[in-house]
Parts: sequence; C-alpha cells; structure tokens
Amino acid sequence: MNPAISVEDLSKSFAGNRVVNGISFRVEAGEIFGFLGPNGAGKTTSIRMMIGEISKDQGSIEIKGLSVPQNMAEVKKLIGVVPDNQNLYDRLTVRQNLEFFADLNNVEHSRIDEILEKVFLTEHQHKAATNLSRGLRQRTLIARGLLHKPEIFFLDEPTSALDPNSALLIRQLVRELRNQGTTIFLTTHYMEEADDLCDRLAIMHRGNIVACGNSSDLKKNYGRESILMDYQENDVIKTAEYSLTDEQQRKKAAELLASGRILKIHSQEASLEEVFLRVTGSEWHESEESQNES
Ligand SMILES: Nc1ncnc2c1ncn2[C@@H]1O[C@H](COP(=O)(O)OP(=O)(O)O)[C@@H](O)[C@H]1O
Ligand SMILES: [Mg+2]
Repeated sequence: MNPAISVEDLSKSFAGNRVVNGISFRVEAGEIFGFLGPNGAGKTTSIRMMIGEISKDQGSIEIKGLSVPQNMAEVKKLIGVVPDNQNLYDRLTVRQNLEFFADLNNVEHSRIDEILEKVFLTEHQHKAATNLSRGLRQRTLIARGLLHKPEIFFLDEPTSALDPNSALLIRQLVRELRNQGTTIFLTTHYMEEADDLCDRLAIMHRGNIVACGNSSDLKKNYGRESILMDYQENDVIKTAEYSLTDEQQRKKAAELLASGRILKIHSQEASLEEVFLRVTGSEWHESEESQNES
C-alpha cells in the first residue's frame, strides 16, 4: 500500500536563501506525524509545497502515490488543510464560511450541522468571523478543513497562541480523527505537544530534518539517559549525575553506590529538548531567536 505521504529530497529557496534543504520522509496511513521545529525552521514552507500552494524547486512529493503538483485536482479531494494564517471571510458568519466552502466542494449542507457539532460550534454558528476568539476561529478552520471528509489532514501550528482549553480540545479532536482512520500531518513549535500527540515526528532545524522517529526512540537514541545520585560527603549533601550510556560513568556510579554514602537515586529520562540540543548543537530558544533575526 502507498504511504499517505512520501517526500524525497524536497527543497525550496526564497531569493537565493534555501529554507527547505533536501528533506525526505514518509507518513504512513493512519498516523499522527508531526514536524517539530523552532520558528523559521521551514515547517510552513514544507506544508505549502505538500498541499500544492507554492511550487517546489527540487524533489518529489506524493500523496497516496499521486504526484504533487501534477495530480493536484485528485490530491485536493484527499486532503484537508488548516493553514497557519486563520484565513476566514471576516464579514461572513461561521456558518456562511462553511457554506461557501461546502458549495465550492459539492458538499451537502447537512454535513455542516454534523461538523459544527463535532467541533462544538453549533451555538456560535451565527457569529461573524471577525468577532471570534482565536480558539473559535481555529475550530471554524478545522470544521472547514473537514467538511469534505479528507483522508489526510494537514494542520499548521493548530494550537499556536491558543488558550489552554482550546488547545486541549483541538488535541483531543486530532486524536479522535486519527482513531477514526484519518492521517494527520501537523507542525508545532511546542515540544510537549509533539511529544504527547505525535505517533512519529521529524525534528526540523534550518531547513533540515535532523532527527525522525517516535519520541521515545528519539529520546533513547539521542538523549542522555542518566541517573542523579544524592550522596553524603563530609556532612554536605552533594548530587552527581551519571550517564547510563557511558561505561566509565556507569562504573563511577557503581563505585559510589558501593561506598554506602548514597541517600537517594533519581532516574532522568531525556527530553525532546535534550534531543534537539544533541542533534543541532544549539539551544531551542537560541535557535528560534537567531532564525527570527535573519
Ligand atoms: N514567501 C516567502 N518569501 C521569503 N521568505 C520566506 C517566505 N516564506 C517563508 N520565508 C522564510 O523561510 C524561512 C522558513 O519559514 P517558514 O517555513 O515559515 O518556517 P516555520 O513555519 O518553521 O516557522 C524563514 O526564514 C522565513 O522568513
Ligand atoms: Mg510556520
């Protein structure tokens, strides 16, 4: 069976500046796959090429075996999109926005009621889009993206700058969609979100995929599994950290344990932040700032 998404050696430059640099990855049908990366990493540019919104410079993109952009008419029927720019018609109501999109895509209006309920928007359907909170706006975009029941759903930073309740609701919805068989491709700059939500994720940094896999494998492969030991030395309590992946350090930890001076041992699982530091050599927030300056 074809993978839901297959990308090979994809690149894009703007004014000679390469912002997507030969990335390759596959998304299997029915999984939640995430691009995790700081602002400016190239996530949105990648999505925009995958949904045929901008041209690629190099490489290939296939959605269920169909080439993008050559087979875009067919691909459009398979995919739903929630863009990062919250582009609704401001003067139309929630419902009118959905009706407009439904008519464009030959979707029956009865489906609008169904989808409004699914995203808990029924009571807000007659509000003008311009008066919506960011969270309600995002739910309207999700409803719009799901109207035609896409098999593959792209969400660009779906919970960015949302209040915690709206973010939670959207994450629940994404899980529910996956459980019903929809393939999800999302981007995020929230590590906890990627960790919590994605079946597999690709860490993106300066146009490159620097690591890819499920989050616990990434932590195992790139993180530093370690233990912290509190011990007594001349009436002072000290803490030492020992890596479990380094033989010398394991020996030292064993010696300390054998000395009988240990008061407490804590295990330390690596975080995605640590994985990022390992594979990029730069701090997450530093990286975000340096990208914003450029
Ligand atoms: N249309 C464009 N023209 C010029 N530069 C762009 C354009 N779109 C994005 N960029 C630049 O490409 C880089 C990656 O941007 P983007 O893909 O939006 O990153 P992300 O979504 O990960 O924050 C950034 O440096 C951004 O300024
Ligand atoms: Mg973006």
